[in-house]
Amino acid sequence: MDFLIVARTVISLALVSGALAVIVSVADKVLNNYGECKLDINDGQKQLTVEGGSSLLSTLAGQKIFIPSACGGKATCGLCKVQVLSGTGAGQVLPTEEPYLTEKEKADSYRLSCQIKVKSDMRLRIPEELFNIREFICELVEIEDMTYDIKRLRLKLPKGDEINFKAGQFVQLYTKPYGKVKEEVFRAYSISSKASEKDHLELLIRLVPDGICTTWVHTALKEGEQVRVSGPYGDFFLRGDCEELIMVAGGSGLAPIRSLVYDVIEKGLPHKMRFFFGANTVKDLYYLEEFTRIEKDHPQFSFIPCVAKPEPEANWQGESGFVTVALENQVDTGEAKEAYLCGSPGMLNACIKILKSKGFKDNTIFYDEF
Ligand SMILES: Cc1cc2nc3c(=O)[nH]c(=O)nc-3n(C[C@H](O)[C@H](O)[C@H](O)COP(=O)(O)OP(=O)(O)OC[C@H]3O[C@@H](n4cnc5c(N)ncnc54)[C@H](O)[C@@H]3O)c2cc1C
Ligand code: FES
Repeated sequence: MDFLIVARTVISLALVSGALAVIVSVADKVLNNYGECKLDINDGQKQLTVEGGSSLLSTLAGQKIFIPSACGGKATCGLCKVQVLSGTGAGQVLPTEEPYLTEKEKADSYRLSCQIKVKSDMRLRIPEELFNIREFICELVEIEDMTYDIKRLRLKLPKGDEINFKAGQFVQLYTKPYGKVKEEVFRAYSISSKASEKDHLELLIRLVPDGICTTWVHTALKEGEQVRVSGPYGDFFLRGDCEELIMVAGGSGLAPIRSLVYDVIEKGLPHKMRFFFGANTVKDLYYLEEFTRIEKDHPQFSFIPCVAKPEPEANWQGESGFVTVALENQVDTGEAKEAYLCGSPGMLNACIKILKSKGFKDNTIFYDEF
């Protein structure tokens, strides 16, 4: 009897809250029918008429203006900043935006474009170089297992088209609905292929358990399919104002480093390079042969794979322990060096601490946090 009452109450509450959600969403659409809104970008450089009601990020993407975004609009990357000079619809800075905006940025009217809706005419300022970011419908010509949880995707651009990117930059990959996932999402992936190869893109994608995009890539995506990407984005690229580059990556963080290493070699740049690659077990290592070959052919490059917990049966002969230990022991000073790091926040923070203790300055350490 009690059970029936509880069940009835739960069902009633669920129905009421479901109905309320529908009413709120319909009310938002009907009552707040924002209609057509005009977007003026960079004092008339671009003038757009758009349908109000969506986020500024997606509205601009609909107009082929791609604002960098690594988190897919979840307010966790802070990359999608634009200046909103006027437009009452944008409202006050939201709590979700606060962590990503400095006082100066707030004073200069920066907002996270994924967090604000287009509800009225707006005047915007957007860096001009972002107008070069394009969308490409590619063909997935290869998908290959590099380890048990990392796949390499090779994407072919449409015939005659090319992408001009700097080694180290990333693209956004758009999923298609699959299984229970009904909506498209997009996520950032660094380009692992050579910047000189402009008609193809390669990505290295590690499966994140229950991750929307990586589960799509690892379980649903098949060779021959059309795949949508936009780019290039990001400021993780070579500065090279030094003699030696210290590169550190963990897992799929190897992707932009691979592109950077080839770039230095292909351009005949004189920099020495030391690449510390951290893996948990020997099973997590990949591209071992390729980097060993590059090391043999190019004395300016050294490859230091580090395995934290090598399996006894693997008979691992290289560095054992965390990549941070090798970094601590093998890098003496930050003088005439730049550091390029890519991987999880934990690994990056530990590496940055070590590098700073060796004399690296903030402006000689560059990183992309995955
Ligand atoms: C500039 C940039 C470049 C990147 N390049 C690469 C790349 O080359 N290769 C690559 O594999 N990834 C890369 N990433 C990470 C990538 O953008 C996605 O965040 C990641 O693939 C997870 O996406 P998802 O949709 O599968 O997971 P989501 O659906 O977004 O997340 C599902 C759950 O997993 C958690 N989660 C999300 N990401 C991780 C993670 N990395 N580890 C553990 N838990 C996580 C979330 O908190 C969430 O609870 C890059 C990120 C950035 C910012
Ligand atoms: S897209 Fe990541 S914070 Fe807006």
